[in-house]
Amino acid sequence: MYRSHTCGELSESHINKVVTLSGWVHKIRDKGFVTWVDLRDRYGITQLVFDEDRTSSALIAQARDLGREFVIQVKGTVIERASKNPNIPTGNIELLVEELIVLNESKTPPFTIEDETDGGEDIRMKYRYLDIRRNPVKDSLIFRSKVSMAVRKYLSDEGFIEVETPYLIKSTPEGARDFVVPSRMNEGQFYALPQSPQTFKQLLMVGGLDKYFQIVKCFRDEDLRADRQPEFTQIDCEMAYVEQEDILNAFEGLTKHLLKEVKGIEIENFPRMTFDDAMKKYGNDKPDIRFGMEFGELNEIAQHKDFNVFNAAELVVGIAVPGGNSYTRKEIDKLTDWVKRPQVGALGMVYCRCNDDGTFKSSVDKFYDQDDFAKWAAATGAKPGDLICVLSGNTNKVRAQLSALRMEMAERLKLRNPEEFAPLWVIDFPLLELDEETGHYHAMHHPFTSPKPGQLELLDTDPGAVKANAYDLVLNGNEIGGGSIRIHDKEMQATMFKHLGFTPEEAKAQFGFLMDAFQYGAPPHGGLAFGLDRLVAILGGQETIRDFIAFPKNNSGRDVMIDAPAAIDDAQLKELNLKLDIQS
Ligand code: AMO
Repeated sequence: MYRSHTCGELSESHINKVVTLSGWVHKIRDKGFVTWVDLRDRYGITQLVFDEDRTSSALIAQARDLGREFVIQVKGTVIERASKNPNIPTGNIELLVEELIVLNESKTPPFTIEDETDGGEDIRMKYRYLDIRRNPVKDSLIFRSKVSMAVRKYLSDEGFIEVETPYLIKSTPEGARDFVVPSRMNEGQFYALPQSPQTFKQLLMVGGLDKYFQIVKCFRDEDLRADRQPEFTQIDCEMAYVEQEDILNAFEGLTKHLLKEVKGIEIENFPRMTFDDAMKKYGNDKPDIRFGMEFGELNEIAQHKDFNVFNAAELVVGIAVPGGNSYTRKEIDKLTDWVKRPQVGALGMVYCRCNDDGTFKSSVDKFYDQDDFAKWAAATGAKPGDLICVLSGNTNKVRAQLSALRMEMAERLKLRNPEEFAPLWVIDFPLLELDEETGHYHAMHHPFTSPKPGQLELLDTDPGAVKANAYDLVLNGNEIGGGSIRIHDKEMQATMFKHLGFTPEEAKAQFGFLMDAFQYGAPPHGGLAFGLDRLVAILGGQETIRDFIAFPKNNSGRDVMIDAPAAIDDAQLKELNLKLDIQS
């Protein structure tokens, strides 16, 4: 028996008991007459003691020979500690060791296995198995498991059936590039790894399963960000005989349940906002509504004066930064430089100080009087002591820029409290999105999303105006889920493909199986998918998903631990009938 107890469970009630523990040597403190060793496992740390009065010299010598991260087994008696440590659960006791076996030695680890480690990101990723021994990573993985279990239990109690769908499939367009896998048995042909199980879950509805879910890996070859990984996990769901309202209610239920179950938080408010409103008020389709700073559009009150920058702009829009009037001129200049960085891309920023006495002082005093500024303040909700920041230009661009500024100010003002949760449905998304580069429309969600009733006709005349039965679930400014009511009619699906630029032959080649299925009694259906990694990270109070994934990829899509991706040898290439033609 390697252990009778874990390193996290011994307390005063075990005093005088003989126990066996196994774990890693966390720390050794040798004071000459006494040597302490902190023994660590997943459950905690227990202090081992070896002293000259009570321990044999052979055993003391053995203890002094230990190194960090050695794996050892010890047997001994639980005793009361002379100086107690109230910071850890086992802090009142220690183990007077009577036997010590080294189960495995360890090289000195390349970074300290501490909550605040000295290891940088790269080295931690290379030795991820050591990183996982650290509490922050270990706790994140345990937390993820807790969330997954709660999801499984809730959905299964609600009658959802978990079904696995294949990974070796054909392209499922979700807006990213596919990862492809060559087929040895089918020369010159490739599988694509699923960007999501979208078409399969729809086929499960045609198959009559009625309520499906799956906690499933998805693969997307896209640029990485803090909240994006090339392989990530979805809680993928689909339901038959539902309208949008049914789906929103069902997954509002799941979200509330998770917040209650894993955070102990009861959510009462679960607002809905249209995409158009979200863009107008927050410049963003995933607004963080934990704080205000809503946009105030100023076109009517700021144009047609002598300030040509505003007169020439499609949109003039501002926010009131709470308490911002305390900024020095230098600080405001820095903020202006911040919005002018290429990552944000504004051409400049106009400001207006709201003084405590109700007067205003602005960078454009020349063109506007106090009454004008009072109108700016009313439109942005500014109060005395605030700073109004105004940007102008092309509507889409300027909204994105002001949204970036709003989030930055919220960060600086510490308004983004990670322990506060504000979920939000964003609904009525446009069906199509114009690709500025190609001039073509593509599906904003995916090509299987149905337009809102009665909007099909608009597809020919004003495609950009067609709204979809599509919704996103937003939590604290992050898109944690998205879905839609699907098209279940073959003709409508064919029309949609036509509008997305597919010839009938292309549509048939890529999605013939789905349109065929629609001819055999496809029920009305819809669903959504949560990004599990994002959901878990946000519930865990963070926005970077990497530490909630056991073995994540780095920013170049590499697993630096196993060194993947890697070249394959000539024999394997030959077997796959592949020839590499890489120009250097
Ligand atoms: P969508 O593409 O919106 O919808 O994806 C659903 C959710 O998955 C998460 N997500 C990601 N998480 C980490 N890394 C990524 N690269 C990544 N990409 C997406 C997001 C997102 O909200 N089949 C549809 C769902 C449906 O219509 O039912 C789909 O995949 O949190």
